[in-house]
Amino acid sequence: MKKYMIQTYGCQMNEHDSEKISWILDGMGYEIANNREESDLIIFNTCAVRKSAEERVLGQLGELKELKRRKPNLILSVCGCMMQREEIREVVLKKHKHVDIIFGTNNIHKLPQLISRHLETGNIIVDINEENREIEENIDANRKYSYKAFVNIMYGCNNFCTYCIVPYTRGRERSREPEKILEEVKLLAENGCKEITLLGQNVNSYGKTLERDFSFADLLKEVNKIDGIERIRFMTSHPKDISDDLINCFSKLDKLCDHLHLPVQSGSNKILKAMNRKYSREDYISKIEKVRKANPDIAITTDIIVGFPGETEEDFQETINLVKEVKYDSAFTFLYSIREGTKAATMENQVPEEVKHERFQRLLDTLYEIGLEKNKKYLGQTVQVLVEEVSKNDENVLNGRTTSGKLVHFPGSKELIGKIANVKIDTVKTFTMEGTLV
Ligand code: 5AD
Ligand code: SF4
Repeated sequence: MKKYMIQTYGCQMNEHDSEKISWILDGMGYEIANNREESDLIIFNTCAVRKSAEERVLGQLGELKELKRRKPNLILSVCGCMMQREEIREVVLKKHKHVDIIFGTNNIHKLPQLISRHLETGNIIVDINEENREIEENIDANRKYSYKAFVNIMYGCNNFCTYCIVPYTRGRERSREPEKILEEVKLLAENGCKEITLLGQNVNSYGKTLERDFSFADLLKEVNKIDGIERIRFMTSHPKDISDDLINCFSKLDKLCDHLHLPVQSGSNKILKAMNRKYSREDYISKIEKVRKANPDIAITTDIIVGFPGETEEDFQETINLVKEVKYDSAFTFLYSIREGTKAATMENQVPEEVKHERFQRLLDTLYEIGLEKNKKYLGQTVQVLVEEVSKNDENVLNGRTTSGKLVHFPGSKELIGKIANVKIDTVKTFTMEGTLV
């Protein structure tokens, strides 16, 4: 049996693409390797959102030169968002000549062909598809867990936020047909899946490329009807597109989780405008108020970029004030990273690295303080936890998540994995909570 490894960088979209690649390789008779040394095929599924992620991949590729020298039959392949960028492909082809196969985000289904072409010819195979971005429906996924699953609902993005490379790497927005999505969810439910995460770069604008009128809220209502599914999540949302109909789903749909991830990026109207986000701080806050009215228990999380070009101390203070006003449960925070080819890369007044780092730390301090405060409200409460796995540190402890997405540790036996358990919260920390089964 040939063995493979996939190293995945970046977002859930990439994680799910790797699950699809793994399904394809299984079909070809490959099995998972325990380490690089015993692998016949190593695939790097890459992310281009920040420069640091790209540098890490290039570093890792460099490290594999020695292994490839010792094992010349090892096939080394790079795919994902980085490979959609011509200048990066050139770097790989020039400086990492030990790479055998390069493919893009739209060509996953062609992997068997690409491998055979490489084996037959010994050539470096490059297969990138920039134009035809038809949705390929005939791929399944090798999902890591049986009780929770990612399901793609749309691909690409039309927003062109000025800092972001995604519209260039993943292309224009296109939605999957609702029937295909619902079919996939039903099949997952029949196989014991309880939690579904609907994936897209901007799920709130789902349906715009369909021939008929069918919105993201319509899709949620249909998924909510599927027997066996107990929890519905979605990632990720754009504040400008979050409709009243969608907000009402948070009060009406019993399976929709008490969690909304709504990336704000900045609290300053001047910076939001420069980012081309198409909403103001006030618009954002009023959407959050509506969401909280629809579901007072909802956890709100966000993405924030620190040090966008032209961000002054006052602009940054507005972000800090917004964080305090919204009281986020948690946030993904990013140091602004210049992405060649985006509009922001050419903007003047780039913020010095040391200023970015110093602001970043202050933002984290604020977020952690609020996050801990928010978790305290769970003390003494009994919450429903979808049990995910045995803790890596202690085999008698289980990990799971509340509907609000909080990570809970509690003593229990592994038979509970995949089930929903009632847990009384005894201790809370900034990122986790501990409790006991009731
Ligand atoms: N620099 C820093 N963060 C970025 N993000 C996207 N592009 C950049 C960039 N150039 C962040 C945004 C987005 C998240 C997925 O990544 O916050 O919501
Ligand atoms: Fe990037 Fe903006 Fe599209 Fe999100 S909405 S993927 S940040 S361009």
